[in-house]
Amino acid sequence: AAPSPLDLVVIPGDGIGPELVDSALQVLARVAALDGFEYRLTTVDAGATAYRRTGRALPDGALERLRAADGVLKGPVGLPDVRHPDGTEAGLLGGLLRTGLDTFANVRPMRLLPGVTGATRHGPGEIDYVVVRENTEGLYLSRGAGAATPHAASDQLMVTRVGTERVVRYAFELARGRMGAAADGARRVTCVDKSNVLRSYALFRRVFDEVARDYPDIGTEHLYADAAAHELVARPQTFDVLVMENFLGDILSDLGAATVGGLGMCGSLNAGTDAAYAEPVHGSAPDIAGRGLANPVSQILSLALLLDHAGRTSAGDRVRGAVESALSRGDFELGERGQPVRGTQSVTAAVCENLRPG
Ligand code: NAI
Ligand code: MG
Repeated sequence: AAPSPLDLVVIPGDGIGPELVDSALQVLARVAALDGFEYRLTTVDAGATAYRRTGRALPDGALERLRAADGVLKGPVGLPDVRHPDGTEAGLLGGLLRTGLDTFANVRPMRLLPGVTGATRHGPGEIDYVVVRENTEGLYLSRGAGAATPHAASDQLMVTRVGTERVVRYAFELARGRMGAAADGARRVTCVDKSNVLRSYALFRRVFDEVARDYPDIGTEHLYADAAAHELVARPQTFDVLVMENFLGDILSDLGAATVGGLGMCGSLNAGTDAAYAEPVHGSAPDIAGRGLANPVSQILSLALLLDHAGRTSAGDRVRGAVESALSRGDFELGERGQPVRGTQSVTAAVCENLRPG
């Protein structure tokens, strides 16, 4: 029997989201034809625009639908003027999806591609590592739960053995699958923490060391987070896979993004045991929305990660390869601030053009 079509859910999102998702879907249509697989798309309207229309950022029953899918392609969501009475944004989905789908690993590959100027003096091929950020606990679990008076406020950083073990294991499995893709050929997982000062991070490191014993074929390294920030700029070529707590991962992955050409060049995957969704690491860019100016590479590389996750790694590789060859042939150009010189569609067309049989 023919394999059943890939069941994908699409969340177009807000701001530049719909433009980016449209671009990624053009790439998906082309790669599916080349790779010979079928897929089915269901659109779920969620985010700030949905909130404004319906009073809910995520429709009833959506989590079940997302969990049942083979994967979810999500555009950025949120609009700065759609807010709850307490001042927080009403259209964001991060908390709802990460917790609701238990997507405990936030996977953020950092690759400096040809024709792209990063913030350091490194060249293409020199930066190629993956940040694995714990996605369901750590400091952000405190959201709304800490104590606050007008004079003092505190939050809690919660690290659990179970939560750490599963994300560290994910990082080691990823390192095994990458086969020494780091620029220096290493196979290594770097544990980033502040175990010198905080007990929560000391537990994180202890669990890391325990899990590492199951992977004698993979090297390990420990860095305190402040030193890691320095080393990610000074010697990014030596990293392979890094694993860290939620808050540290949030910050260090944006630092990494700057070294590979900015947020518009970075896709991400949120992966759990039963569900996964892929999304750009940036927001909905309301300042340029609706004008065809945004860089869709972040969304296209997110699609590639989703295809990998759904077991279509040859399709994922094809998509990454097409982005890379389009850039190295100069088929599209990125200007200042990472915006494509000839607009979103010039990038989409160039990537599709570079998706070729063989
Ligand atoms: P942002 O990431 O949307 O924009 C920051 C700057 O980067 C802007 O100048 C924007 O034009 C530019 N930019 C972002 N992506 C780009 C792309 N693909 N191509 C070219 N330029 C790009 O951050 P901002 O303005 O702080 O947030 C806007 C909204 O997005 C807010 O409502 C925020 O809460 C939400 N947000 C949503 C996220 C998500 O859905 N995962 C993540 C981060 C923010
Ligand atoms: Mg962030």
